[in-house]
Amino acid sequence: MRVDVLTLFPAMFDGPLNTSILKRAQADGHLDAQVHDIRAYTTDKHHTCDDTPFGGGAGMVMKIAPLAAAIEAISATDERPPHVIYLTPDGTTLTQAIAQELRTQPRLMLICGHYEGIDERVRTRYVHQELSIGDYVLTGGELAALVVIDAVTRLLDGVISADSLAEESHSDSLLEYPHYTRPAVWQEMDIPAVLRSGDHGAIARWRRLQRLERTFQRRPDLLAHAQLDKHDRAFLRSLGWHDPLWTERPPRKHTPKPLPEPSSARHDTAE
Ligand SMILES: C[S@@+](CC[C@H](N)C(=O)[O-])C[C@H]1O[C@@H](n2cnc3c(N)ncnc32)[C@H](O)[C@@H]1O
Repeated sequence: MRVDVLTLFPAMFDGPLNTSILKRAQADGHLDAQVHDIRAYTTDKHHTCDDTPFGGGAGMVMKIAPLAAAIEAISATDERPPHVIYLTPDGTTLTQAIAQELRTQPRLMLICGHYEGIDERVRTRYVHQELSIGDYVLTGGELAALVVIDAVTRLLDGVISADSLAEESHSDSLLEYPHYTRPAVWQEMDIPAVLRSGDHGAIARWRRLQRLERTFQRRPDLLAHAQLDKHDRAFLRSLGWHDPLWTERPPRKHTPKPLPEPSSARHDTAE
């Protein structure tokens, strides 16, 4: 996948793109990340990229011309048209499902805003998708762009093992189970005995229950989208989860037994 980043602060990408998984993904040819300085697309001697807002008010706005020139020139450097994303706090909140969709794109272009943001007409003309990384305001889109790059790159084929991705938090609307590694006992804190039992079936069941319990405790909203079988549902109900598919069986209607015949009507043979 090719990712073009448009930013006023290219140096912010130096460390993250040259470390750990993102560095290896590039070295192995899975990710081609190219960071572009928007100032290189200005035409005035001061390389001006911002101006005061029409209508007045605080702050500066990123100008159309350098951004439009950058988007068009950089788009044309590859025959694959980019899927253009603007990082913005008023965009759709990034989720694992969105990251999964983005991993299928051959090319992304990430636009990082600064100041009060970018001229709205850039959004209207060029942007296909607007993403926020959460309900808070950053000084610029660079950290948000790095979050998108990281979340998407680790999902690209060959970047990390498929096993590691299988039961991750948010992969299937359940959070992940807890992890432990050596030593088994640390400051009198032991690990759950089942993890040392060697019984793979028991370990898998324990992990499943841990995932269910964690999700119920921390993010019960996710359970509405999870694939749950009848055992999962029963376990969650035992924790106090309100199962939308569960209707208590109504108490059986009491049908009184017919009364025994009065003794006078009995045919008495005892005499
Ligand atoms: C100071 S913010 C501008 C905030 C804007 N005036 C508003 O109120 O929506 C500057 C830039 O940071 C980026 N940014 C800030 N918060 C973000 C978030 N939560 N997610 C993604 N990008 C964000 C955007 O690119 C934005 O243009």
